[in-house]
Amino acid sequence: MQTRITELFGIQHPIIQGGMHYVGLADLAAAVSNAGGLGIITALTLKTPEDLAAEIERCREMTDKPFGVNLTFLPTVTAPDYPGYIKAIIEGGVKIVETAGRNPEPFLPYLKDAGIKVIHKCTSVRHALKAEKIGCDAASVDGFECGGHPGEDDIPNMILLPRAAEELQIPFVASGGQADARSLVASLALGADGINMGTRFIATREAPVHAKVKQAIVAASELDTRLVMRPLRNTERVLNNVAVERLLAKEKTMGEDLQFEDIFEEVVGVYPRVMEEGEVDAGAWSCGMVAGLIHDIPTCRELLDRIMAEAEQIVRDRLAGILG
Ligand SMILES: Cc1cc2nc3c(=O)[nH]c(=O)nc-3n(C[C@H](O)[C@H](O)[C@H](O)COP(=O)(O)O)c2cc1C
Repeated sequence: MQTRITELFGIQHPIIQGGMHYVGLADLAAAVSNAGGLGIITALTLKTPEDLAAEIERCREMTDKPFGVNLTFLPTVTAPDYPGYIKAIIEGGVKIVETAGRNPEPFLPYLKDAGIKVIHKCTSVRHALKAEKIGCDAASVDGFECGGHPGEDDIPNMILLPRAAEELQIPFVASGGQADARSLVASLALGADGINMGTRFIATREAPVHAKVKQAIVAASELDTRLVMRPLRNTERVLNNVAVERLLAKEKTMGEDLQFEDIFEEVVGVYPRVMEEGEVDAGAWSCGMVAGLIHDIPTCRELLDRIMAEAEQIVRDRLAGILG
C-alpha cells in the first residue's frame, strides 16, 4: 500500500503509533518501526532533554527504520524545557516529529530548518487547516472516539475525516477508534492517507507497560470509557474505574466551581503508577472506545502484518466483490 503518508515518512505501511505518556518509549517505537509502521517516542515521559537524547539513542540501537518523537505542548503555566527537547531531537538525528496540544508555531522554524517533517495532531478541521497554514507537513485528525484529549467539539471520525478531506491539501491520518484492517480501509475510503493508533498499541507484547494494563484494555468494552475534565475544557477520554467515578461525582456536585486542585488526587502522578506498577485503578488514564475492538495482545509485527493482509482482502474480495 502506497499513500502520501508512506511516501512522506519513508515507511512501509500507512500506520502510525501516536505518542503516549509512559507507553511510547523506545521499546514500542522501535517495534512499530521494525514492523513497517512509524513508531513514536513520547518526549515528555522522559524527565529531561538528556533523558530524551538517551532514549533516542536506545531506539536507534533497536531499529534502523524511521521513527519519530511526540512533543505535546501542554496548557500549563510552567512549561517543560521545550527548546531543550527540540535540541535533543535535532541532535539525535530524528527526522519526524508529532506535535500535539497547543499551536506548535513558535517551534516550527527550528524543526523545519533541521529538515524535520512535522505531523500535527488536531481534533477539528479548523485546527488542521491552521496546521497546514503554518507549514506542518501532515495532520493527524483525532475524532471524538479517541483515547486521550478529543477536544470540545465532539465530532466522530465518520464526519470529521471526510470534512478534513474536503478542506485539507496536506496528507492526513485518521486517529481515534482505529484498531484493525476494517478501520484502515474505512479511513482510506473517508479520505485519509493512513491511520494513527494509540490504545491498540498499548495491548501489544512490546508495549513497555504492566501486564494488568494490557489485560484491562482487552477486558474493556466500547462502553467502558468516560469523559473527564469537561468542566475545565480539558476533556480527556479515560478508562472507567473507581477513581474516575469519584472524579465524575466531584464534577457533578461542584459544577462550574470545579478547579483543577479538586481533582488532583485522581489525575496527578497517575501514569507511572498505572503503567509501571499496574495499579489500574490509581486514577484517570487515557483509553479509547476502540478498547471494544481489542481482543488480544499480539506483537507489533503480528498486528501490522494482520492489518495489512486483511486490508488487502477487504479491498480485493469484499469491496471488489460487491461491485460484481
Ligand atoms: C495512555 C495514552 C496516553 C496518551 N498520551 C498522549 C500524549 O502524551 N501526547 C499525545 O499527543 N497524545 C497522547 N495520547 C493520544 C494518542 O497519541 C492517540 O492520538 C489516541 O490514542 C488515538 O486514539 P485511540 O486510542 O482510539 O487509538 C495518548 C493516548 C493514550 C491511550
